[in-house]
Amino acid sequence: MSARPDSEQFEEVRSANIVQLNANAFHNIGNVATIAKLTIDSLRETTDTEALDYMLSDLLPALRAAATGESDTPASDYVQALAELLEHQQTALMRQNQLLGALDTKLRHIGDIIDVQRRMASGDGNPHLTSIPAVLADCTRMITESATRRGVNIHTDFADTPCVMVDAAQITQVVLNLLKNGMEAMEGAPGKKSLIAKAFSERGQAICQIMDSGAGLRENQCEQIFAAGYSTKPSHSHGGLGLYYCRLTIEQYRGKIFAIPREGGGIIVQFELPAVENA
Ligand SMILES: Nc1ncnc2c1ncn2[C@@H]1O[C@H](COP(=O)(O)OP(=O)(O)O)[C@@H](O)[C@H]1O
Ligand SMILES: [Mg+2]
Repeated sequence: MSARPDSEQFEEVRSANIVQLNANAFHNIGNVATIAKLTIDSLRETTDTEALDYMLSDLLPALRAAATGESDTPASDYVQALAELLEHQQTALMRQNQLLGALDTKLRHIGDIIDVQRRMASGDGNPHLTSIPAVLADCTRMITESATRRGVNIHTDFADTPCVMVDAAQITQVVLNLLKNGMEAMEGAPGKKSLIAKAFSERGQAICQIMDSGAGLRENQCEQIFAAGYSTKPSHSHGGLGLYYCRLTIEQYRGKIFAIPREGGGIIVQFELPAVENA
């Protein structure tokens, strides 16, 4: 591929990248759905209808008979048994409430992923006023579950950042690529795994930084990684087009993207886009 690809090539790279991101999103949804299913199984286990049946059909009638003098057993015996069973039910209900809360969070997360996917697919290539922190918030929310699975903590740090004129769907794809790379770079790395997404403003540019604490890169590799087809990962799942796509997209909007080694390990990938003043 030439350094300045024509629009047809760009479209090809863009589609390939979207296919990868879609596959990733389905994978994420699958993960969340699995956990949701396990939560439902636990909910079933904590639902003890037998105890309730026993209270209603055995204990209560016996208590009634004792209270009306129809039986010799003192009513207090049944009251004690009922109290214990009710307490047990209360504990189960509290646990069920917790599980329902967890289920709610999981379903919302699936909703979030689908939401970002929908927005990403609805890009028309036309620039609109876009907030980088909003895109970052969308993307980090979308990968929360898969980050948790990989033991990665995500932090965001958004300063006042001016809007930019871009197709938000394309910038979403850029950011998802960067976050995904960051997580992949931390796979198997010792120590705390953290991914930081920052947005701020400098020199009339809206700036985004994605920092990881992964394997890192040597200075001379930092330029290479944006080349088409460059990849150090298994080729069946990685085409080495992610960062190439990011560069094409950012440059299309007269921006810059580059990577630098990060002190203490990992790298910082930074992109900058011209700020729209007084937006
Ligand atoms: N955060 C990172 N830390 C270390 N290396 C990275 C990072 N991001 C990208 N790379 C390197 O750049 C290569 C190209 O990345 P990319 O274009 O996204 O392709 P792919 O992820 O499909 O390999 C990766 O294979 C990896 O070697
Ligand atoms: Mg990649």
